Amino acid sequence: NVQPKSIIVIFGATGDLAKRKLFPSIFRLYKANKLSEDFAVVGVARRPWTNDELRENVKKSVSSFKNSDADIEKFASHFYYQPFDVTDVASYQELKSLTESLDEQYNVPGNRIFYLAMAPEFFGTIASNLKNEGLTQTDGWSRLVIEKPFGHDYPSAKELNEQIRHAFKEDQIYRIDHYLGKEMVQNIEVIRFANALFEPMWNNQYISNIQITSSETLGVEDRGRYYESSGALRDMVQNHMLQMVALLAMEPPIKLTPEEIRSEKVKVLRALRSLSVDEVDDYFVRGQYGKGVLEGEEVIGYREGNSVDPESNTATFVSGKLMIDNFRWAGVPIYIRTGKRMKEKATTIVVQFKDLPMNLYFNKDKEIHPNLLVIHIQPEEGITLHLNARKTPGATSSTPINLNYCNNCGDKMNTPEAYERLIYDCMLGDATNFTHWDEVALSWKFVDTISEAWESTKAQNFPNYESGSMGPKESDALLAEDGFHWWPVGEDNFSPKE
Ligand code: BG6
Repeated sequence: NVQPKSIIVIFGATGDLAKRKLFPSIFRLYKANKLSEDFAVVGVARRPWTNDELRENVKKSVSSFKNSDADIEKFASHFYYQPFDVTDVASYQELKSLTESLDEQYNVPGNRIFYLAMAPEFFGTIASNLKNEGLTQTDGWSRLVIEKPFGHDYPSAKELNEQIRHAFKEDQIYRIDHYLGKEMVQNIEVIRFANALFEPMWNNQYISNIQITSSETLGVEDRGRYYESSGALRDMVQNHMLQMVALLAMEPPIKLTPEEIRSEKVKVLRALRSLSVDEVDDYFVRGQYGKGVLEGEEVIGYREGNSVDPESNTATFVSGKLMIDNFRWAGVPIYIRTGKRMKEKATTIVVQFKDLPMNLYFNKDKEIHPNLLVIHIQPEEGITLHLNARKTPGATSSTPINLNYCNNCGDKMNTPEAYERLIYDCMLGDATNFTHWDEVALSWKFVDTISEAWESTKAQNFPNYESGSMGPKESDALLAEDGFHWWPVGEDNFSPKE
């Protein structure tokens, strides 16, 4: 294991992300021996906490791991807290002396990660102050990690990027898209480019359509204020969904370097068919959840939630048909679908292959099941290949059969958490699984047209799907118009455990 040495400064250390994701991920890295003892974490936020208060919170956030108290105690002792006002230079000066003294104490050669896990309106101010107060001028490297949302639309993202770029170079900026840290999202490239079986067929001659679903059972909970101005489009499509599209559709990179991979992803985003505002409703469906029953419990509708307008026009569900206008993909729809309060929590990719020119083996419905490659991103991680074979001796019909591979079943593997991987990559200086500005910019431009169409017209039928369903019926119609249907996802159908 390479054990990078650095001081990690977390802005927003009293917040939810730090508690739920960042502290546990750093702990897992520590336990996996990827950190050595030469590291320190400085938590900064507005609240007047002390080192001890932060450490207590850190301990609580990792208490579910089976570990000795001594280990947890030792881990927490690497954490320091500084009450912080992001607009006050004195806070930065104090942080500078603290990090310098921690360099000495922990034998760190001036390496810094500044992790911005807080309200985005301060990203620009923090980045400039870090530079102006000399926190980025050390003997080691400085990297800036930025959580989403990276802007609200293209113009605001551009402005934010310019502010940050005054202080940090592009190769020092690590924009998080946590889907890129997921094992099976990273596996898309391997499945595609390490199999002679798939790569020659990965095009419009053999693939009829691709479906990407990321469904959630949770509602918007207490994030109403953020979600009202974001909706599923900005929250999930601009980033996670389009990143998966890019990985599925890109050309093989000539090398596995961040630059080469990114340049292939960028080409896909550039080839996305751009729509006019008038065309949006032909390609995209918006939905909002009403009340319903989920896992046996009655749940309230989106409009009844905290900080939500009772007549809200915000979409909590989006499905869409993307066309990639290039040689490889001309004519192949890529359908995406994501929403809150759906039937189950699952992220699944289904690649549907075209039918054979002629069918010699009828099943009972006089048709043959199409071949499907299903990539299970979560909660199960694996792949299923749907083929046809003869099951009954002597039969003249074919039966669909599944070949299953499960990545995380049994004791095979303890997959690292997305954040654990991304934090470690950042420490190593590997930006492959972070989004470059070019990708962010193109994704916003694509999504902005849809937002514009939807924000200028009130959805007449909201709420239009029941909690616990798979979204509005218009989403099914979108595929039916092309002669397709959504394949079931998650537990409902393809289970690698079968
Ligand atoms: C986040 C969104 O980026 O992704 C959340 O802001 C969403 O609204 C989450 O719930 C989904 O991530 P995951 O890893 O649970 O699929």
